[in-house]
Amino acid sequence: MRAVVISEHSGPASITIRDVEEPGSTHELGGPVVALDVHAAGVSFPELLQTRGLYQHSPELPFVPGLEAAGVIREAPPDSGFAVGDRVMAFTNVGGQAEIAIAPAAMTFVLPDGMDFAEGAATILNMHTAYFALAMRGRLQSGETVVVHGAAGGLGSCLVSIAAALGAQVIAVVSTEHKADFARGAGAHHTVLADDHWAASVREIAPGGVDIICDPVGGDRTTDSLRLLRTQGRYVVLGFTAGDIPQVRVNRLLLNNLDVVGAGWGAFVRQDPVAFRAIGDAVGQLLEQGVRPKVGHQVPLDGAITAYELLESRQALGKVVLEFPR
Ligand SMILES: NC(=O)c1ccc[n+]([C@@H]2O[C@H](COP(=O)([O-])OP(=O)(O)OC[C@H]3O[C@@H](n4cnc5c(N)ncnc54)[C@H](OP(=O)(O)O)[C@@H]3O)[C@@H](O)[C@H]2O)c1
Repeated sequence: MRAVVISEHSGPASITIRDVEEPGSTHELGGPVVALDVHAAGVSFPELLQTRGLYQHSPELPFVPGLEAAGVIREAPPDSGFAVGDRVMAFTNVGGQAEIAIAPAAMTFVLPDGMDFAEGAATILNMHTAYFALAMRGRLQSGETVVVHGAAGGLGSCLVSIAAALGAQVIAVVSTEHKADFARGAGAHHTVLADDHWAASVREIAPGGVDIICDPVGGDRTTDSLRLLRTQGRYVVLGFTAGDIPQVRVNRLLLNNLDVVGAGWGAFVRQDPVAFRAIGDAVGQLLEQGVRPKVGHQVPLDGAITAYELLESRQALGKVVLEFPR
């Protein structure tokens, strides 16, 4: 079968698309396994980091990357709840960017009617993380105000959509006007450019401060973010696309009774299928209401390098998805 292969840690230009052996019947995350004919696979920042060996989960080289995929069940054990031919989306953890992938049955969901494979491949990593970050780690209440950094990215746009669906006023911080349009399309009520004045612009929109700041970007935005939080506000740490890991001056937390909380969805659910399923069910209800991940780029398998480079060059809008010829 054909697959994307990472065989060295020198960045996206060194990935290859080639024939590899089909996956076995056991998954590193354990439990009964389903096999799917992949129609679409997600490409996200964690896999970009894997091309340089910089992600916390770094499989031995060479390996087939791919945290998530959507497709059609080709094999499933009788007690798995799935049958051959079912349309599904699955958290594969690794190996999703291949014509055939395996996933724990417990981490596989029926693809709702009305959702295409690309949306399915864009759902689990980012929608589940966004729900976990907002509802569980950020304790979002309807009517609160939420700032989302990197709001036109894969995770950022899901944070925007889910925060809006849960009743928040959403302020999106993005680097270009084009990305501002995209963030509004995801549900942002206000957009602010990530220039030297971004914090002043947020302050103009929310003079009394904001309740939650979701940050997948890091870098130099943390201190200003903490200054923008009103009393008992929550700063939710999701990632560091800007490269630098920020330092927090803890006096700021004391002065205004603030929380800084990490939201590492993968670390939370990989060992806990019950938590995984609970978050998935909550996201499933949002999908039923019509909330969707926004797919910005559908790239054919042969263009995998381009797909990764969209993320590296900061040009990606929403989710980047690899499409498999069927
Ligand atoms: N915590 C979790 O459980 C979890 C789950 C999934 C992903 N993540 C993390 O979330 C982050 C975002 O992932 P993603 O897949 O959504 O990535 P993405 O689609 O590329 O979005 C990242 C956003 O970061 C901003 N950014 C700022 N500086 C950047 C730079 N130097 N290079 C690239 N982007 C930069 C960009 O927005 P602007 O151009 O508008 O600034 C971009 O839209 C990553 O760090 C990823 O590891 C965490």
